[in-house]
Amino acid sequence: MKYNFDEVIDRRGTGSVKWDFGDMLKKMGLAERFDQDTLPLFTADMDFAVPPCIVEAMHKTADQRIYGYTMAPDEYYDAIISWFDRRHGWTIKKEEILYCPGTVKAIAMAINTFTEKGNGVIIQRPVYTPFTTSIEENERTVVNNQMLVDESGYYIPNLVEFEELAKDENNKMFILCNPHNPSGRIFKDEDLKELSRICAENGVILVADEIHGDLIRRDQTFKPIATLAESTDHIISLTAINKTFNVAGLHVTNVIITNKKLRKMYQKVLGMQMPTPFTYNALIAAYNEGEEWLEELKEYLDGTIEWVMTFLKENMPKVKFVRPEGTYIFWMDFREYGISHEEIRKRIYIDANVILEGGKMFDPDKGAGFERICLSSPRPMIKEAFERIAKAFSDLN
Ligand SMILES: Cc1ncc(COP(=O)(O)O)c(C=O)c1O
Repeated sequence: MKYNFDEVIDRRGTGSVKWDFGDMLKKMGLAERFDQDTLPLFTADMDFAVPPCIVEAMHKTADQRIYGYTMAPDEYYDAIISWFDRRHGWTIKKEEILYCPGTVKAIAMAINTFTEKGNGVIIQRPVYTPFTTSIEENERTVVNNQMLVDESGYYIPNLVEFEELAKDENNKMFILCNPHNPSGRIFKDEDLKELSRICAENGVILVADEIHGDLIRRDQTFKPIATLAESTDHIISLTAINKTFNVAGLHVTNVIITNKKLRKMYQKVLGMQMPTPFTYNALIAAYNEGEEWLEELKEYLDGTIEWVMTFLKENMPKVKFVRPEGTYIFWMDFREYGISHEEIRKRIYIDANVILEGGKMFDPDKGAGFERICLSSPRPMIKEAFERIAKAFSDLN
């Protein structure tokens, strides 16, 4: 490999949320313990160095010595258009692209733009926690279209119930998470077409959070819903380099809206939102020069996932999982141990000193007994985390 993903970079003292803010994590109920030995593997933030092309772009930008008001040049839009065209067969026009500083912010803005207080917003639990918080904090109602699970643990959307929920006049929006966080599955084409059709027929705005779409297994394909839907008039697509290229701190999200009227409404709420010079230069470098790095990253993540699956089968056979088709997120079912959520948590968060995210965060009703780990750290770190966790459960295996 040209890039060294095994390199362990000490991030302590860099203002890293996962490595530097233990007290805050404890206060938020995310961590039980935080010290020099803690392995924080709870958040979708990679511990890998970004591709050298981005580092170089950041140096060049810093060398400008002035960081005044900045607007993205055509090169920025060309880089986005070219990336989605060549990698996903998706034709995007420049005028359809709106920059937004972060995906969670883009979701909250969509909620505020297209729904009113008290309206229902459909999500598919278990799902990324800020979907719920964005809905609740904006005084809308969470409407859960619970994912179904087949006998192998594979998550499937409940389309029959979805259609009933979409028909309810009070439910004005659906937030899709594809690839799905936390299960890691990629929705099937026919399911995406159905979800889009149902939304279109019932006047439901479909917000598609697809920011994990470039981080998929090498034997999988990902298709943006906008390339499958009969019409994109009701679709707000969220794209980002934040996850793909490990630049979440630069907040590089792009919202794609083809419907002129909806775009105008969104733009009005967004206001004059300009990217920083670092932000737009990072995107240009990533999309124009980062492809080789991304392919190697995917190969590395595939290898880590293989290692984890083998390790669990051999050392913790009671832990159930399905190989994630996309994302570096790994969703584990500990229920066969027959112990409480709290006891699972004690063994992982205190005894093993590893911070994960508990299933209840993704699904308050059905998430107990599940834990999510992000495998986006150097493999030696991941191996250590699993070895510690296995030791903490050794009396029950
Ligand atoms: C599905 C999903 N959407 C959004 C985000 C956050 O994105 P951003 O940092 O761009 O707000 C995450 C981060 O984990 C995520 O998994």
